[in-house]
Amino acid sequence: MRVALVGLGAIGLGAHLPALVRHPCVDVVQLVDPDPVRREAATGQGIRPAADLDPGGVDGVVLATPPWVTPELVVRYAEAGLFVLAEKPVATSVEAARIYDRLAPEQRRRVQIGLTYRHDPAIRQLKTWIDDGTLGTPVLVRAHIYDEAYSPAKREHAYLITRTLEHGSPVVHEGAHVFDWLSYLLGGPPEHVDDAWSQRTRTGLPAANLTGARISYPGGHQALVEFGWFTAALPRCELTFLGDRGLATLDGFTFDLRLGTADGEREVRFPGDRTTRCFDLQVQRFVELSDGARKSGVPSLDDGIAALRTAQLVAGRAG
Ligand SMILES: NC(=O)c1ccc[n+]([C@@H]2O[C@H](COP(=O)([O-])OP(=O)(O)OC[C@H]3O[C@@H](n4cnc5c(N)ncnc54)[C@H](O)[C@@H]3O)[C@@H](O)[C@H]2O)c1
Repeated sequence: MRVALVGLGAIGLGAHLPALVRHPCVDVVQLVDPDPVRREAATGQGIRPAADLDPGGVDGVVLATPPWVTPELVVRYAEAGLFVLAEKPVATSVEAARIYDRLAPEQRRRVQIGLTYRHDPAIRQLKTWIDDGTLGTPVLVRAHIYDEAYSPAKREHAYLITRTLEHGSPVVHEGAHVFDWLSYLLGGPPEHVDDAWSQRTRTGLPAANLTGARISYPGGHQALVEFGWFTAALPRCELTFLGDRGLATLDGFTFDLRLGTADGEREVRFPGDRTTRCFDLQVQRFVELSDGARKSGVPSLDDGIAALRTAQLVAGRAG
């Protein structure tokens, strides 16, 4: 599969490119970014980075671009007949995601969304424990998603997070992943958002940096979710799944699992680090999409839009 990587920023160069290079069936044929500084940083990969994509000679494109530019690029390249692996969130609002209505079904099925951590075996293990009754049913999920500590000395990081907050609170950006996992694990999208709150920890921030909600899922499952960015210190990033028969705990960074039941406690760890594991599985699914082994992207564009819809409901309710 001949792949172009568009967007040579942190995740493009740090995770997508190494995963693409590791896959035996992928040839990275173009590196693209309009920013000359980013192109300069990407030299030395054996390919001269370009400002624009030449869609000829390319089967697929990976879009590691900010969510305010990604939708237009997805539509452009899917309409050109390419397979597209696009970073989450699929847009910064449900309104902005309406651009995807332009895609014909054949173009839409060729789009895979970079909800990367859905691929992790830890998520599959959790689903097994929920579905086979190991935890009991219903479950109460507590998701504490805290990341991106604020350090004024890290000016580039502070700039990136401030810029991202201008396009919505952390629930839009982190919620893309979390609401995708919860729909997958709990049997479908939420039935309703019962309650939500938000808090800005200092003046001058473009959006609330702490947000939370209580959400009802099918089957009586409930989720208490919290998202937080950009405080000097952060609470532990962790998800717990509590039912009458057991408690499963997922470490938010490593994805190490702990299961506690009446039989005692055990740990489940999967080989390798989470990022390598999940980005490799993601590329494998993209290759399967292009060679016809998969009929549509997993996770799909519809999955990405559904996660965005939940995030927007929470953000709207939180005010
Ligand atoms: N899947 C994951 O686990 C994961 C992890 C981190 C970030 N992300 C997502 O990846 C995306 C990028 O994040 P990042 O941290 O790498 O940001 P970044 O700012 O470091 O990189 C984005 C790059 O896109 C380039 N770009 C901007 N407009 C462009 C255009 N029109 N055409 C081509 N390139 C363009 C920028 O010049 C920049 O180099 C975000 O949507 C973020 O939410 C996903």
